[in-house]
Amino acid sequence: MIPKTFKIKSFGCQMNVYDGERMAELLDSRGMRAAGEDDDADLVVLNTCHIREKAAEKAYSDVGRLRREDGSKPLIALAGCVAQAEGAEARRRSPMIDIVVGPQAYHRLPDMVGEAASGKRPVDTDMPAISKFDAMPARRRAAPSAYLTVQEGCDKFCTYCVVPYTRGAEIGRPLRDILDEARALIDCGAREIVLLGQNVNAWREAGAGLASLIRQLARIDGLERIRYTTSHPNDMDDALIAAHGEVEQLMPYLHLPVQSGSDRVLKTMNRSHSVDSYLRILDKVRSVRPDIALSGDFIVGFPGETEEEFQQTLSVVDAVCYASAYSFKYSPRPGTPAAAMDDQIERAVMDDRLQRLQERINHHQSAFNRSRIGTETQVLIERSGRNPGQMIGKSPWLQSVHVETAATPGEIIDVTLVEAGPRSMTGAERALAAA
Ligand code: SAH
Ligand code: SF4
Ligand code: F3S
Repeated sequence: MIPKTFKIKSFGCQMNVYDGERMAELLDSRGMRAAGEDDDADLVVLNTCHIREKAAEKAYSDVGRLRREDGSKPLIALAGCVAQAEGAEARRRSPMIDIVVGPQAYHRLPDMVGEAASGKRPVDTDMPAISKFDAMPARRRAAPSAYLTVQEGCDKFCTYCVVPYTRGAEIGRPLRDILDEARALIDCGAREIVLLGQNVNAWREAGAGLASLIRQLARIDGLERIRYTTSHPNDMDDALIAAHGEVEQLMPYLHLPVQSGSDRVLKTMNRSHSVDSYLRILDKVRSVRPDIALSGDFIVGFPGETEEEFQQTLSVVDAVCYASAYSFKYSPRPGTPAAAMDDQIERAVMDDRLQRLQERINHHQSAFNRSRIGTETQVLIERSGRNPGQMIGKSPWLQSVHVETAATPGEIIDVTLVEAGPRSMTGAERALAAA
């Protein structure tokens, strides 16, 4: 039986969220209907992440949990990076999985659903030269802040990372397609566009890089805010840095992972930048955009990391004063060079380092939030808050801002930031006072 209703659950990075939205639109265009949050669905797509062991294992436990009380189960599609990494093996590991579809093949999902409905168990982890985007229906829904994938894959091969294997080689979408999709998203209500890519700042077309793309997007009527993520330090060119000082719609926020504060560790990670070259980039960005909120990613307990090297990571955190940052315990991934390295670090040591790093990051995050108190700024309203009359939106620095207002999602309102919490801000609407 062909399923009538579907549910898609996305894990991992924003690219997976974007892919989940596109799969939903694709199934929708073939006459299937999204099931409600608490409703049962005929088809469940688990859009998985392979980046760390925990995330990958979660995929299989989530599959197991789809068994219904009466012993039946929905049609189950394993999508995303676990699907890519495991391929047909996933089908063997869990007999409940009906479909295995990789991130570059999901335009085939509706056909595969048809095959599965007739009893087959299709697997597609090809990385075809033809862009899956060409097979997608036009955008018909958009959040106030909408994701738009402009680049996929990674050629960097950091020694700990699965992304080059699960997402394939770096490939950029054509400029014209990106601009068309941006216009379509704005037509359905987006005010902000977040450009996505595993290495978004590696995007290039005919010699023009991400800065040029951002400048062209900025000319589109109705597009008020532009962001991009995630960037690699080596692709942070001068044109992109300059755009931060010149393009009004480009928000003062930069997520630039460094991973470690030790040059020796960076070298064994194959990061191809040094601590110093990283800090120099941030200095340049700050010189054109002094208020920029900086963010990063860190890995603690990479094989061979000494206490002293870990402390160098803490020093980088103190030197940069991040507005926010993500930190992870190193997780050995099958097939990556680092998984085979000697000197894997003990769990207890990793736990301790992670805790110390997170304390330091939280300290700077709170300080950054406090430094914004009293600032008159604008907030893009995204959704309603817990209390009546309260809405939640984002400041230019990507802080969550709680504000009492009659404004609805998609509106940009004038706000004074009045209170800072560790993870969010409270704002007071200013238009009211001025009226
Ligand atoms: N392309 C981006 C991010 C990719 S994954 C970049 O290069 O910055 C997001 C983050 O997950 C990485 O920045 C890294 O900090 C973390 N990560 C990747 N592989 C990991 C692993 N094996 N163990 C722990 N953290 C990892
Ligand atoms: Fe992974 Fe490194 Fe590529 Fe980022 S740059 S996706 S960490 S290989
Ligand atoms: Fe995870 Fe794949 Fe994204 S491994 S972080 S979902 S690229």
